[in-house]
Amino acid sequence: MSSDKVQIFDTTLRDGEQVPGCKLDTQQKLIIAERLDNLGVDVIEAGFPISSPGDFTSVNEIAKIVKNASVCGLTRAVKKDIEVAGEALKIAKKPRIHTGIGTSESHIKHKFNISKEEVIFRAKEAVAYARNFVDDVEFFAEDAGRTDNAFLAKVCEEVIKSGATVLNIPDTTGYCLPDEYGAKIKYLKDNVEGIDNVTISCHCHNDLGLATANSIAGVINGARQIECTINGIGERAGNTALEEVVMILRQHPYLNLDTNINSKLLYDTSLMVREKMGMFVQPNKAIVGANAFAHSSGIHQDGVIKNRETYEIIDPADVGVTESAIVLTARSGRAALAYRAKKIGYELTKVQLDTAYKTFLNFADKQKEVIDEDIHLIMKQVNKISKIAIA
Ligand code: KIV
Ligand code: ZN
Repeated sequence: MSSDKVQIFDTTLRDGEQVPGCKLDTQQKLIIAERLDNLGVDVIEAGFPISSPGDFTSVNEIAKIVKNASVCGLTRAVKKDIEVAGEALKIAKKPRIHTGIGTSESHIKHKFNISKEEVIFRAKEAVAYARNFVDDVEFFAEDAGRTDNAFLAKVCEEVIKSGATVLNIPDTTGYCLPDEYGAKIKYLKDNVEGIDNVTISCHCHNDLGLATANSIAGVINGARQIECTINGIGERAGNTALEEVVMILRQHPYLNLDTNINSKLLYDTSLMVREKMGMFVQPNKAIVGANAFAHSSGIHQDGVIKNRETYEIIDPADVGVTESAIVLTARSGRAALAYRAKKIGYELTKVQLDTAYKTFLNFADKQKEVIDEDIHLIMKQVNKISKIAIA
């Protein structure tokens, strides 16, 4: 059975770029946008055109060069925002305007101090106005994660009538549990008239470390777009990480959900975004962290050397990482030492390996990691006792 496609909406250049210190100039954004297009994302959210002349120019320049993906610009539910976004996106092959308003009690009371009816009115008006500029209008119900489901359903139904093509249900504050977020999407599927004619989108923040889990719960319950960023960068604790949701869907084919992403470009794209934004990822970051395919304990190393699948659920080559790393530490065993020695040219007999391993442990106890230079020194000492064959 062929898989249902989940659209990947990349917001690295909008929500991701909101991170303090991650500001990019237009040239840098163009390089990233071109890479995202090659990676196979379906939508590139290129910026918030009214926010500054620089952002307008970036969205406009990106709209000129992107060949395959839709190019999207963010707006508030404000006519001027929408006009400026329409202008910035005019040249795009597939333009999308992303407009919306807060729908939670907290946003309605503290941000706007207006009635719920007024929220619905502004939402409908914004969507209808945006349709004058583009055919593809995505509506976001900001803080949908904390919005009462019945009111959220009412807002969604109304904006569909006004011409929305995509409904974004953001867990803006990263509050929801996966079951709760999944149930919210299902509630909309079951209770909103016209919902089957639009795409439901998940936009999850990571304040409780649940952004990826919530997005997956969303698509399992009927959403067909995930909004995410490379390396999960974004406001506060970040957004859903693109590489994570893509590989979760790929590693669980029975879900019958897949994306258009060329996963072999994931690692390289991660490196590009780190470098351009000056934002480094933690070594234990899933899929793209430095240790994601590194094994350092003896038991794991022995298993991986015998068969990679004993301790790896993803072939590193599938995400563009050359190979699994066997890192030598004081926790490593003989199998790992023999493996690494062979990689740099030494074929050890069992007796030689025993001798080498004793010296190795002396090195390993003194330093965090034993590197190739150390292995050469260890082999020199072993060689004095018995000649090592060259592998
Ligand atoms: O997190 C959020 O709610 C957003 C919206 C502006 C889509 O980023
Ligand atoms: Zn967001």
